[in-house]
Amino acid sequence: MENKSYSDDDVELRKRPINGNATDEPRVVIVEDTAKLKKSVGIISGISFIVGSVIGSGIFISPKGVLQETGSVGLSLIVWGSAGILSLLGSLSYAEIGCVVKKSGGEYAYIDAAMGRLMAFMFAWTKIIVLTPSSVAVISMTFASYCVTFFPYCGEPQVPLKVIAALAIVTLTIINCYDTRAGASVQVFFTAAKLIALGIIIVGGLVRLGQGHTATMKSGFDGTIGTASGVALAFYDALWAYDGWNTLNYVSEELKNPYVNLPRANVIGVLLVTILYILTNISYLVVLGTDGLLDSDAVAVTWGDDVLGAVGVIMPIFVMCSTFGAANGALFAGVRTLYAAARDDQFPEVLSYVNCKRYTPIPCLIFTSVVALLMLIPGDIGSLIDFFSFASWMFYALAIISLFILRWRLPDAHRPIKIFILLPVIFLACSLYLVVAPIVQDPRLEFLYAFLFMVGGLIFYIPLVHFQLMTGRFDAVTRFLQKIMEVVPSPYEEPD
Ligand code: ARG
Repeated sequence: MENKSYSDDDVELRKRPINGNATDEPRVVIVEDTAKLKKSVGIISGISFIVGSVIGSGIFISPKGVLQETGSVGLSLIVWGSAGILSLLGSLSYAEIGCVVKKSGGEYAYIDAAMGRLMAFMFAWTKIIVLTPSSVAVISMTFASYCVTFFPYCGEPQVPLKVIAALAIVTLTIINCYDTRAGASVQVFFTAAKLIALGIIIVGGLVRLGQGHTATMKSGFDGTIGTASGVALAFYDALWAYDGWNTLNYVSEELKNPYVNLPRANVIGVLLVTILYILTNISYLVVLGTDGLLDSDAVAVTWGDDVLGAVGVIMPIFVMCSTFGAANGALFAGVRTLYAAARDDQFPEVLSYVNCKRYTPIPCLIFTSVVALLMLIPGDIGSLIDFFSFASWMFYALAIISLFILRWRLPDAHRPIKIFILLPVIFLACSLYLVVAPIVQDPRLEFLYAFLFMVGGLIFYIPLVHFQLMTGRFDAVTRFLQKIMEVVPSPYEEPD
């Protein structure tokens, strides 16, 4: 199959079952040939996928918000630690469910297995059209905003910012279309860069502590605000920095030895990030003090100027590496939901096809990148993320409910890890709180819009997915796309 190109003769009409029922509807497939995504992710690249997708923009931006909302050193560190523990509970639960439902696609596969196609479609629709493209776009914008600091430019700053962000998205798409291993190597390289950056910050902070700069840490809980809404807002800031703890579950089919590597990488990755985040925050506080931290818009850069002096210019470079790698992780993982959903006939099937030479999911990478590029055009994508972060937490909650449903429905399924029931219960309670609290505290019309958008997916679901009204109508388009992208179907196979 390697290095083969396809002609019209390779493509034939074949009857194939839809939704498990035989149908007379002809569909285009390339005869016999299929390709699978390669199993290229081992334990080290697995951990670096998690660490590299989680550490992005948040640790360089959120510490200010967390301190502002909590008011004290003590409470802000508690929020950072608790957000880490919450993410750990999530990743433990996902390790269990990822070993029972072994398909790629993350929440999509779990909701599909436990709650059926309609709920899975609603998730996939929101994830594909909004969640993945907007996180890729937001992280690329953060990348661009650090990049422009090197090019003093007098004029409308939004334009170069968006051009750089767009270039970053296009570059990442090309790399990921080129080779899965290239995508994985980008991740390992940039993860190393961000670990070095956090390492420098942590060591710098410990040295200052050793020199006796302990006043800020000794202030403990002085100034604590501690209102319920303030703490909730602080959690949202910190949880953005931890978001991505579920990354590996999106690519479980590409994991080598998934039963061992998925749970291990999930736990090690999230624990590592939690420790790094707490130590980094301590360093920010020791070096800058609470006032210095609150005054800074780019805390890592202010820290670099203070501790490293002229060498501090390396800080924005490290932040750029960190955000570039995180955008790669968000893209790499996010497109796997589209891949999985298209393979299940929930989206045009060609979107699930894989290049027959490079084994990369080119159609879904291109689709996701185009939507992300479109999102760069309107001004403020940050607000989009705000309103959809509640959607993310709603889907995390649904995935955990799926874990309970599957325990009850498939009690004898092979579960290489089975976690203590209280852990997912706590996670579920917290995620429901994170969904409901912002709506109760500040009921804005935008939440209704976001909700209507999710339900709006039904307009497509009922005719196109449930009744398959358009099935077979786009065979010519599929055939054309198959030829120019050299992509073939990629059916699911049970791991050994
Ligand atoms: N935690 C990342 C950051 O601080 C954002 C992660 C975006 N979400 C994702 N699923 N990759 O920038």
